[in-house]
Amino acid sequence: MKILILHGPNLNLLGTREPEIYGSMTLGDINSHLLEQGKEFGAELKCFQSNHEGALIDALQDAQTWADGVIFNPGGYTHTSIALRDAIVAMKIPVIEVHLSNVYAREEFRHTSMISGVCKGKITGFGWRSYTLGLRALAEMLEDRNPK
Ligand code: DQA
Repeated sequence: MKILILHGPNLNLLGTREPEIYGSMTLGDINSHLLEQGKEFGAELKCFQSNHEGALIDALQDAQTWADGVIFNPGGYTHTSIALRDAIVAMKIPVIEVHLSNVYAREEFRHTSMISGVCKGKITGFGWRSYTLGLRALAEMLEDRNPK
């Protein structure tokens, strides 16, 4: 089982960026945690972060060639990017949308997601655990599909 963990803009600043909202863990801490968790499922994970919309689209298109699924936090592009939505629509593997913060408890512009309707599901508000919950859900779903 191969999974891409994809992080969007400004998530490279985790740890120092608005820690009262996003917590004190760095992106490196979160990725290390997920890599450990992946072993539980025998999953091979690749982690990638970019501040650039096009690079995120490239990563999604590339994942289509090697991954079984994607955990994706598109950061601020969540609320604006039709191009990311189109990229997900073109994919045949499941994408799970995750957010550290509860976007519905924040400014109204964060209540809209361009991608929720084309993702398998969405997890929001559990801090770094949104990623671990997303990974568990995705891995279990993929296991169901490929029973040993
Ligand atoms: C975020 C929520 C977005 O609204 C925001 O722009 C981010 C982070 C989250 O993980 O809570 O950059 O995706």
